[in-house]
Amino acid sequence: MSSFLDMSPRFNSDFLWGASTSAYQVEGGWDADGKGPSVIDMRDSIPEGTADFTVAADHYHRFEEDVQLFAELGLKAYRFSIAWTRIVPDGDGEINEQGLAHYDKLIDALVRAGITPVATLFHFDLPHALNLKGGWASRSTIDAFERYARIVIERFSDRVPYWLTINEQNMMVMMGDVLGTSDDGAMARAYQENHHMFLAQARVMKACHEIAPNVKIGPAPNIACVYPETPHPLDVQAAEYYSALRNWLYLDMATRGTYHSTAWGIMERKGWLPEVQPGDGEILANANPDFIALNYYVSHTVRRPLAEDGEMEGAGDQHIVIGEPGVYKGVPNSTLPTNDFGWEVDPVGFRTTLRQVWERYNLPILVTENGLGAFDVVDEDGRVRDPYRIDYLAQHIEQIGLAISEGVQMIGYCPWSAIDLVSTHQGIKKRYGFIYVDRTEDDLRSLNRLKKDSFYWYQRVIDTNGADLSSLIES
Ligand code: BG6
Repeated sequence: MSSFLDMSPRFNSDFLWGASTSAYQVEGGWDADGKGPSVIDMRDSIPEGTADFTVAADHYHRFEEDVQLFAELGLKAYRFSIAWTRIVPDGDGEINEQGLAHYDKLIDALVRAGITPVATLFHFDLPHALNLKGGWASRSTIDAFERYARIVIERFSDRVPYWLTINEQNMMVMMGDVLGTSDDGAMARAYQENHHMFLAQARVMKACHEIAPNVKIGPAPNIACVYPETPHPLDVQAAEYYSALRNWLYLDMATRGTYHSTAWGIMERKGWLPEVQPGDGEILANANPDFIALNYYVSHTVRRPLAEDGEMEGAGDQHIVIGEPGVYKGVPNSTLPTNDFGWEVDPVGFRTTLRQVWERYNLPILVTENGLGAFDVVDEDGRVRDPYRIDYLAQHIEQIGLAISEGVQMIGYCPWSAIDLVSTHQGIKKRYGFIYVDRTEDDLRSLNRLKKDSFYWYQRVIDTNGADLSSLIES
């Protein structure tokens, strides 16, 4: 037991054991039934040798089979995203009834299977046509997002009780070039886009409460605790700066409608302050989330930047932090193991993160992503043995139970991912699912589904409401 207190994990009987995906990473059918192209479909920076998103896991055509598998897994919730470009193909023009009909069918299948739908309104896939008109840098995208959100909330809120506004807005701002959501990674522009996304989110939360008072809506940033490399006061300060900029800027705005003062100060020093118009403050202050959704994969460790750090360029991504000159510098945490992709594994940091969020905001938490990307293989006997994933998930679930024992209010846990899908920038070889999909980066093969060992393990976890996390899987 990793805790100094004698606490045993406790999960309420209505705890939502779920799993997650996002539209562009799992659906495929990239131009099916009137869908318009998104920035992801049009991106020209997919790393060489990795799958594109045109077919992905073909969930668009195979969702019925997939929902059957989710039901067999025992999922109580399925967190998916709605592709804006299926509903309004050019972002702000005609409504595509075929797109709405698709999600009707998916949601109905989930409800029939006893699985609670949890819908994300926007997961990285901005309509390309809106991008051509300035994307999130243009205030008209705020109107387009509210209109699209109203359409889907009106249509689906009778069956979808949980809504998420924007997935990982913080990662789009800080790592948009890696994720393929930003053309150039210019930070001043990114923070203007950020301000507009804040306004869009606030207007949509308010609209949602008006349209469907019984459903719940919340933000879905990536939140991670930040450690200082040493107790040196300037390292501790660097950790607070980074946390202000990656965590609290987003959650303070979503819950209190104000800019976090430390984050604002850094933005000012860096020349990143957005243009704020009269009336924006009121819009931001008038939105109240019902809960906080968050994604957690890794903790971060930083130190004070030193003169020799230079411009701090390097191959970072959402979960490997390089640094910001004059503010913080990412460093490896020698106490933590890493996964196959260099991401540090820190289950205790997960609990710390949950506690920090609960203590700051006092809103119930739904974990909408957490998981392990790995090079899974199908053995000669046709089985996918993924004990490393079971280990990772078991350790993180244990920490949720302990967080609950420490008073954190949790709604549920939706690990990434329900089924194999294409990673944001590292292809299909980086697999996360409980269900294996038979394809490679460049060969679509059968696209058949195969239950991994972790599938049977998670089935038992759900069945025992988190009491049995042991990794033994019958051979
Ligand atoms: C999160 C995203 O950043 O991490 C997901 O919300 C993503 O879309 C997940 O897939 C894992 O990251 P990656 O880069 O391995 O796909």
